[in-house]
Amino acid sequence: KGIPAAVLWMAFCIALWGCAAQNTSRETENVPEFVLTYAENQAEDYPTTQGAYKFAELVKERTDGRVEIIVNAQGTLGDERTVIEQMQFGGIDFARVSLSPLSEFVPELNVLQLPYLYTGADHMWKVLEGEIGDRFLNSFDYSGLVALSWYDAGARNFYNSSHSIERLEDMKGMVIRVQESELMSDSIRALGAVPKQMAYGEVYSGLQIGEIDGAENNWPSYESARHFEVARYYTIDEHTRVPELQLAARSTWEKLPEDYRDVIRECAEESARYERRLWREREVLSEKKIRDAGGIITQLTPEEKERFQAAVMPMYQKYCSDYTDVIERIVEAGKT
Ligand code: GCU
Repeated sequence: KGIPAAVLWMAFCIALWGCAAQNTSRETENVPEFVLTYAENQAEDYPTTQGAYKFAELVKERTDGRVEIIVNAQGTLGDERTVIEQMQFGGIDFARVSLSPLSEFVPELNVLQLPYLYTGADHMWKVLEGEIGDRFLNSFDYSGLVALSWYDAGARNFYNSSHSIERLEDMKGMVIRVQESELMSDSIRALGAVPKQMAYGEVYSGLQIGEIDGAENNWPSYESARHFEVARYYTIDEHTRVPELQLAARSTWEKLPEDYRDVIRECAEESARYERRLWREREVLSEKKIRDAGGIITQLTPEEKERFQAAVMPMYQKYCSDYTDVIERIVEAGKT
């Protein structure tokens, strides 16, 4: 007799409904509405890059795949300065950058990277996570950029290819690479050396061919970028702590619906906590790796450190005279 027509019709409808349901779920859950770029200038295994991947992963998960962020590490989208410029017209959607080059675009950020400002990591985090940090995070409106969260980059120290720096006089005449920042160039001059601004990706060859005598950076960068191979003398002087920011291009930000923005902010903060944990681990590992590789490490005596500090003090007035009250509050925060 065969199957009744009504049963066949029902089976057909169920199959059709199944396909439709599958299609809908594919459209809403898996096909991204926004595919956005993220620039990062460090190596794949570096804490900030790992933080970026975490950020992208969380955003994808929490928007059910509707916002996809493609992380481009190792400076493939350009050096930090170029990345910031591209973000200002929406050519790149997200990035993690150091405050040094960013301060050239948002000058008030110099306050947070003044030499010898913080007594240590805890002091810096107290400031960044408190009211002062929030105020700076929300002061970018005019720049074409939106600040999302703070990343850690430790303290920076000097290194070079010719001798240990033990006294201020040892800095004299040395050509030292600095980030693309006037404040940093001036600080180097104040210490008696000659600054040369250069992108991070060019420092290794600069040291190798003798275009520069030295540079300055934190332990993980010194190790990860292998600068220690061509500049073995590393002096722990902690002349500055330069925090970093995850940023969004304002034009991209404005295209995103409110609920996606909230998710993105939340994921940026979560990824920052993740990065800070990785950072602490990497600092220890990098220092150990350098010491094991035969790096020549010295530490400034407290008396010498005071001389370095005194030499760069004019930077406070020159770059941040409008912010003396904020600076006083930051210094105060380091005492309690
Ligand atoms: C650190 C920072 C980088 C920066 C670099 C530099 O490594 O994480 O973002 O480019 O310093 O010295 O330029």
